[in-house]
Amino acid sequence: MISFKVPATTANLGPGFDTMGLALELFNEYRVEISDELIIEGCPQEYANESNLFYQAYRLGCQHIGINDKIHLEMKANIPISRGLGSSSALIIGGLCAASFLHDHRLSDEDIIRLACRMEGHPDNAVPAFLGGLTACVMNDDYPLIIRKNPHDDYVFTVFIPDFEVKTADARKILPKEISLADAVYSSSRAIMMLEALENGNEEMLRVSADDKLHEPYRRKLILGFDELKREAIRNGAISFLISGSGSTCLAISKTDELPQRMKKYLDNLKVNWQCFNLKAYNKQVTAL
Ligand code: HSE
Repeated sequence: MISFKVPATTANLGPGFDTMGLALELFNEYRVEISDELIIEGCPQEYANESNLFYQAYRLGCQHIGINDKIHLEMKANIPISRGLGSSSALIIGGLCAASFLHDHRLSDEDIIRLACRMEGHPDNAVPAFLGGLTACVMNDDYPLIIRKNPHDDYVFTVFIPDFEVKTADARKILPKEISLADAVYSSSRAIMMLEALENGNEEMLRVSADDKLHEPYRRKLILGFDELKREAIRNGAISFLISGSGSTCLAISKTDELPQRMKKYLDNLKVNWQCFNLKAYNKQVTAL
């Protein structure tokens, strides 16, 4: 059996809608081997079959290299589902990497990224899930153009994971079909700054550039208590506070690891149950162990 792990990711990072993402130190762990029949262990029974996203990605990868076989997969899925932490990308990248690792690494990095983005529809989770680090990606006619950086070591990423889901499809439906030129300029200028601020550690640049007008103003209403939670996080030392991907998880970026303990009392008094903990960025590409 080969073993490997794929990290959780937080996409968008404010103004980098459908483009920017960051890998975090929370992982789905996989052990996989070629097998005569499909066996999937470690997930709910309803997904232990051909509809499993990991297996669908595996099949797509195998199709690409002209192979048709089955696997025995053991998975430990630590990334929560439908919470905006890249659980689908972790399965898709997992399946594509398995297809490559079990067949002499016959998928190139570019193949893996291209196939993953085709399945996912946008590159902001899939690219950092595979490459690690902080990434920005443009899919140019199915050809990925990527910037990859390591975020500044001082940043602490605090996740706030509520006990309710937000489905990406619903969070996309709520977005307007068109936006004003002013909002486009507001967000695109900040996206450029955000990439730089996350790399160079400049707090003021991060605070200003994290603000977004493409999705957060519309999606905040899907996240119960978002505005107050944001105010409280910033009052307690967060430099910026964002919706992670399409939610429901929220992400505070700060330079203190005390945010969870400082906010414990506030969170304990809310009706919704929020898990809150710190994660560091994860800067390594997926490899077979
Ligand atoms: N960029 C995507 C979105 C990430 O915000 O809808 C979620 O898959």
